[in-house]
Amino acid sequence: MARVVIVSNRVPKPGVEGPAAGGLAVALADAIKPGDLWFGWSGSIAKETLLTPRVVTAKGVDYATIDLSKDDYEHFYVNYANSTLWPLLHFRPGMVTFERADYEAYVDVNRSFGHALKPLLKDDDLIWVHDYHLIPLARILRKLGVKNRIGFFLHVPFVPASLLETLPNAVETLKELCNYDVVGFQTERHTGDFRDCLRRMMGYEAEPGKPVKVKGHSVLPLACPIGIDADAFAKIAMRAAKAKDTLRLIESLAGRAFIIGVDRLDYTKGLPNRVEGFSRLLERYEEHRGKVSYLQVAARSREDVVSYQELKRELDRAAGEVNGKFGDYDWVPLRYITRPMARNTIAGFYNVARVGLVTPLRDGMNLVAKEFVAAQPPDDPGVLILSEFAGAAEEMTEAIIINPHDADSITEALHKALTMPLDERKERHQALLAKVRASSAKAFCDRFLGALEELPKAAAA
Ligand code: ADP
Ligand code: F6P
Repeated sequence: MARVVIVSNRVPKPGVEGPAAGGLAVALADAIKPGDLWFGWSGSIAKETLLTPRVVTAKGVDYATIDLSKDDYEHFYVNYANSTLWPLLHFRPGMVTFERADYEAYVDVNRSFGHALKPLLKDDDLIWVHDYHLIPLARILRKLGVKNRIGFFLHVPFVPASLLETLPNAVETLKELCNYDVVGFQTERHTGDFRDCLRRMMGYEAEPGKPVKVKGHSVLPLACPIGIDADAFAKIAMRAAKAKDTLRLIESLAGRAFIIGVDRLDYTKGLPNRVEGFSRLLERYEEHRGKVSYLQVAARSREDVVSYQELKRELDRAAGEVNGKFGDYDWVPLRYITRPMARNTIAGFYNVARVGLVTPLRDGMNLVAKEFVAAQPPDDPGVLILSEFAGAAEEMTEAIIINPHDADSITEALHKALTMPLDERKERHQALLAKVRASSAKAFCDRFLGALEELPKAAAA
């Protein structure tokens, strides 16, 4: 297969095995192979946005990154990407802010990405662009004379036309996406919404599974669920379950049932409702008082975005309130940590958890749901509680599916999970594990890159 060039705003620190909160970096790290190139933002701020990338090679993969200027970081990353597109694509139009100047800076940063990337490209590379930060990149690369096939994968949800059209530059955004050869989405539903937008807002005929003809060019909308390497993660979890951190955790639980939630501290993850659902469990079902321990790891994320700062204050308060109300001198019901945790440690914690709580208000896929299932011991598995609004719910129907807007549904699901007989737990887990194994990181890459590679050269020129 040709060399794959992954382009994404977030790039993992090469060679660093430490904590990485964020599905994109985690899933692609499972998929990338020696010889490939990963290009993106270094995560650092410099005096100016630099067009000469720094290249570091680790385990045979080249990582090429550029710094952003403070202005670009603010207008491109904090504002347009994470205060316009992120809330819109997560069905939160009330939280969207839009400024033309931010959009202009967003396109400029994409231009800088294009100029910095161009000299690194070889003729037969497959270029694979990731996520909402980089929608205009295909047009920019084409303008610079790049003839390679270029694919785009959206890690977050895609919205129906009635929502997308609230974005002042919605049609322009669709046009930008149509410059790619393949545009991938996490679920069939989002792919269908994209086709529907093309039809309603641009008048293009778009049939399921078929490329759409757009002014002499074809773009293929593709549903392509992202996944993890389940067997490798299971191995890590089994090993980690016997390691020091998990043993310390087990000792501290003193026989209590363990509930776990692992997220970035993000308003899309439904964290306040989750804490409220847990609080009502203790209120309504007295038998669980003193008998359960809930660990919520909520890694601070996008701390320069005001709504994230507000969420942190809200969650700090809610966590304190539950513990103040129900805690005892020898029992802390909710353990709340706002730092990322090492991946191995988390894997061991999933392994010993009785319940995995995954309750986003909206999520492209949600890899935590898949990791939790992969990490469970098959002879005594825990139970996954999953929001119907996570992309993962399209496949993982044997979880307890809840509506995260309804705190009572989280409460009832927790009670059901904590009292579920072993046979039912095993049955659900077996079915879920088969699905997690089938939709692996490799299957995701093969499906997407296979579709991109199959295109006739002419379609890419
Ligand atoms: P998102 O991409 O929106 O962050 P996902 O659930 O798809 O959500 O992916 C999150 C990834 O980051 C998972 O692999 C998860 O294990 C990891 N992660 C999330 N929160 C934390 C955390 N607090 N500490 C360490 N890793 C985390
Ligand atoms: O998976 C969605 C996503 O936005 C990724 O694009 C991103 O890497 C991750 O969440 C974490 O967010 P950020 O890169 O802003 O820290």
